[in-house]
Amino acid sequence: MMNLGSIIATSTIKGFETIYGIRPGNELIQLQKTKKEFTGDITLVVFPLLKISKQGPEKTGEAIGAYLCENVNEVTGYNVIKGFLNLTISDAFYIDYLNEAMKTTGYGMVAQPADPPVYMVEYSSPNTNKPLHLGHIRNNLLGYALSEILKANGRKVIKTNIVNDRGIHICKSMLAWQKWGNGETPSNTIITYRKKGDHLVGDYYVMFENEYKKQVKQLMNEGQIEEEALRNAPLIREAQELLIRWEKGDPEVYQLWQTMNQWVYEGFEMTYQRLGVDFDKIYYESDTYVVGKETVLEGVKKKIFIREPDGSVWSDLTGDGLDKKILLRSDGTSVYMTQDIGTAQLRQNDYAPDKMIYVVGNEQEYHFRVLALILDKLGFEWAKDLYHLSYGMVGLPDGKMKSREGTVVDADDLLDEMTDTAREMSKELGKLEGLNNDEKEDIFRIIGLGALKYFILKVDPVKNMTFDPKESIDFNGNTGPFIQYTHARIRSVFRKAGEMGIKEAGRSNNSISLNEKEKTLLKLVYEYPAVVKDAGSQYNPALLANYAFELAKEYNQFYHDYPILRDENQLRRDFRLMMSDMTGRIIKSAMGLLGIDVPDRM
Ligand code: ARG
Repeated sequence: MMNLGSIIATSTIKGFETIYGIRPGNELIQLQKTKKEFTGDITLVVFPLLKISKQGPEKTGEAIGAYLCENVNEVTGYNVIKGFLNLTISDAFYIDYLNEAMKTTGYGMVAQPADPPVYMVEYSSPNTNKPLHLGHIRNNLLGYALSEILKANGRKVIKTNIVNDRGIHICKSMLAWQKWGNGETPSNTIITYRKKGDHLVGDYYVMFENEYKKQVKQLMNEGQIEEEALRNAPLIREAQELLIRWEKGDPEVYQLWQTMNQWVYEGFEMTYQRLGVDFDKIYYESDTYVVGKETVLEGVKKKIFIREPDGSVWSDLTGDGLDKKILLRSDGTSVYMTQDIGTAQLRQNDYAPDKMIYVVGNEQEYHFRVLALILDKLGFEWAKDLYHLSYGMVGLPDGKMKSREGTVVDADDLLDEMTDTAREMSKELGKLEGLNNDEKEDIFRIIGLGALKYFILKVDPVKNMTFDPKESIDFNGNTGPFIQYTHARIRSVFRKAGEMGIKEAGRSNNSISLNEKEKTLLKLVYEYPAVVKDAGSQYNPALLANYAFELAKEYNQFYHDYPILRDENQLRRDFRLMMSDMTGRIIKSAMGLLGIDVPDRM
């Protein structure tokens, strides 16, 4: 593709050589987008070049500006403000560029090289005692979008998930089910959806916690202090008993564990499908902790770790400014860190990734620092390739939809609510006549999901955020539906063009002059590949989201202000159609990288 940056850079270097007799190195050429308040399209920062010109910034800028204007076709004007040389680029350049972009399949994407870098992206990674909640939604959306964005940057991506399927949490659900379940299964419950397997298991977890609390209270009434009561309550003892039997491989316990986890997986799978996320490879803690444990024991032999007199194993990280971290308990059972050591090793064995990205909430920052450090101490040279993509909390506005447990919002409930809201809003707009019910429902689903996904992804991952369902679906705001609607609007222009018998010209004539709106749009078209690149290198889908909004917003203003099909100048009509087409394609592409569908009508 034609690259403005390299055209200007090369000519600037030549210009300096001509004017000052010295050839500046590439590193001295700094180009940026011209700030909105100034005239121009691309700006050369003059300061680094002053050591060559040995003149003030204004003088230097003037000299090189005049040179570029004179010698470079694409440059049609310039102005110098302080040490910044603002250059105006010709309309013809942008029109030619549009012609080229139109011919490029997968415009904005980098083709995968023959031997691509392999990126492993871990996301979701739930525990198996509860359904997915709003926090998981942010996690899943980030992980999926990041994976797509990395692929668009020519990386090979392996989407992975570690399911924390063993431990005391699932034993609590198991115990409650044994005691109070009366053989209930996901399929024989009355309201099947409410009791998807993951919800069912989650309900028993809640039941356990409630009964446990009662027992603790009772013991405290009898005079025990809280700490004792928490340890002595019969229910927690029984749950621990179950865990020990599980670790020993007791067939009965193992069977129950498998059955209940299976229910959970079926439930998770439904939620993943609704969300539109998937995985190339799923790891299970019940497999990986075994590997982790072996590695830790070897580490003891090699004196990398310490075994205390009570039998517990520790990694001493005080020399690195962290604390001591337990790796195996005195009874030999493993902890959260143990399985992560094993999981990382298995992933290296299976895929030898160049980079392992963990999409995990920011409350686990310490955990991942420790993990990388421990792997490094163990001598794995790939320890340096771990990256924790840490994201902030997501909540709902006060008073909105708390789940039965009272603290978290079920992903399934929220997805239902989104579709319902989309249905209501669309009814008000009433633009879907002519579609049958299934088609309409599909569009409501796409809008509801698009609203949710966009609202979450437009926020920088590191920031905490509040998800407001109503605001997210506002057709006039910075929302997914607004962008989706812009796409539908563009497609409707083409439907109308078809009816009028107007065909899209294969090429735009570059002699027409652009109005301000058109030029802004073409500059956005030009920017798209750079945005994809930045989103990839910064692991930040929000850059793409906000770009898509900007593009949609500009297009709508253009659409509002100028005719397309009814323009009497045919060259201009051809151009506007082509520009509309390209805008629609980019919206679809950018939203696609975010995992958001754009309907052709809505
Ligand atoms: N299952 C864990 C939780 O719910 C998150 C796992 C994150 N990934 C990891 N490799 N430790 O808190």
